[in-house]
Amino acid sequence: MEKATLAAGRTLLVSGPASLVLIEGEAEVLGAPIKKEERLLVREDRQIPIEAVTNSVLQVSLGEVASRREFTGTTIPSSWENLANTTLELPNPKILAIGPTDSGKSTLCTYLTNMLLEKYQRVSVIDADVGQSDIGPPATIGLGTTDEYLLSLADLNPISMFFVGHTSPTLVKDKVISGIKKLMERSTGQDPLIINTDGWTTGDEACAFKARMISEVCPDLVAAIQTDDQLGSIVNATKTTAVIVYPPTIIKKRGREERRRLRELAYRKHLANSICRNIDFTQVKLVGAELRNGRLRGAPQKLNSMTGFLDDDELLLNIGILKGVEQKERIMKVYTPFRGLVKTIEFGAVKLDPSGKELTS
Ligand SMILES: Nc1ncnc2c1ncn2[C@@H]1O[C@H](COP(=O)(O)OP(=O)(O)OP(=O)(O)O)[C@@H](O)[C@H]1O
Ligand SMILES: [Mg+2]
Repeated sequence: MEKATLAAGRTLLVSGPASLVLIEGEAEVLGAPIKKEERLLVREDRQIPIEAVTNSVLQVSLGEVASRREFTGTTIPSSWENLANTTLELPNPKILAIGPTDSGKSTLCTYLTNMLLEKYQRVSVIDADVGQSDIGPPATIGLGTTDEYLLSLADLNPISMFFVGHTSPTLVKDKVISGIKKLMERSTGQDPLIINTDGWTTGDEACAFKARMISEVCPDLVAAIQTDDQLGSIVNATKTTAVIVYPPTIIKKRGREERRRLRELAYRKHLANSICRNIDFTQVKLVGAELRNGRLRGAPQKLNSMTGFLDDDELLLNIGILKGVEQKERIMKVYTPFRGLVKTIEFGAVKLDPSGKELTS
């Protein structure tokens, strides 16, 4: 543990895993004032910028692969500040954030949430980035709401979830859009709503998908993080007002392996306290699987599939993994933390082992 002094107007960029406590002065993270004596935790895959409003002193504890850098000024691009001012002028705005992977989408959504909390009591967020979702497990879409400032979207607990079953939107474009719309119905409608999306923005198909998402979701404003020309064509294809913003110069990029490792950590977290449940497959509604002559069709291929337990509104209650099928006994064995009444089970394309490891079939 060490003490760091940070002069007014300077930023301390901390890459996790790390923990920080503000001891003296006034400082902010992504537009949120830091409370004194409160411990801030920075995950290994993240970095947070601490901006000193007045001369400040922090206690900093860095993990093995953590790092810190200090420099003058802010890491928030001026285009983000202008966007925040524009959103603050709109009544209860619904904002859809689009941008390539590693462009700062989740951080922009966090920053906008914090800025909107200066005017509104609550802000809702839908994380529809099925590959790197921060609200709920991967391969799902989550809705969270907050009346407190956020360090990250991962601070939000899901109040409603939608099961997609894929970690990429490419094969489930309609499902992703209908999931966002379903969760929008679940948000209060009285609070500003920020929607984070996947980073698939390159190529005609991706552009058409995003353009359709915009026209179906009908946001008041599209916040487009531009790294190349791709987003221009998406934005031009819709009638919605769009504000082009730019990525921060300091982005902590994640490789493919890193992304997979983070998803696996998230599955593991959401599968904690699982048990193996025996479920009579003739007594529940199945989605993505069917019965023939009282047998579950294609059972061997479905083994280890990520499953979703859905409620009567087709919203996700919890996830599980199909571990076995006993056709004669009409039983499927599902490893899950879900203890409630099973009504509908949906089968996804993702395959997992109980430790959360993604299996390739
Ligand atoms: N303005 C900023 N200041 C400091 N760090 C930032 C800023 N914006 C993003 N980062 C860091 O860069 C990394 C990537 O940002 P972020 O996760 O927001 O991008 P993303 O587009 O959502 O990525 P993904 O495609 O994986 O969802 C994160 O570690 C984040 O903390
Ligand atoms: Mg993200």
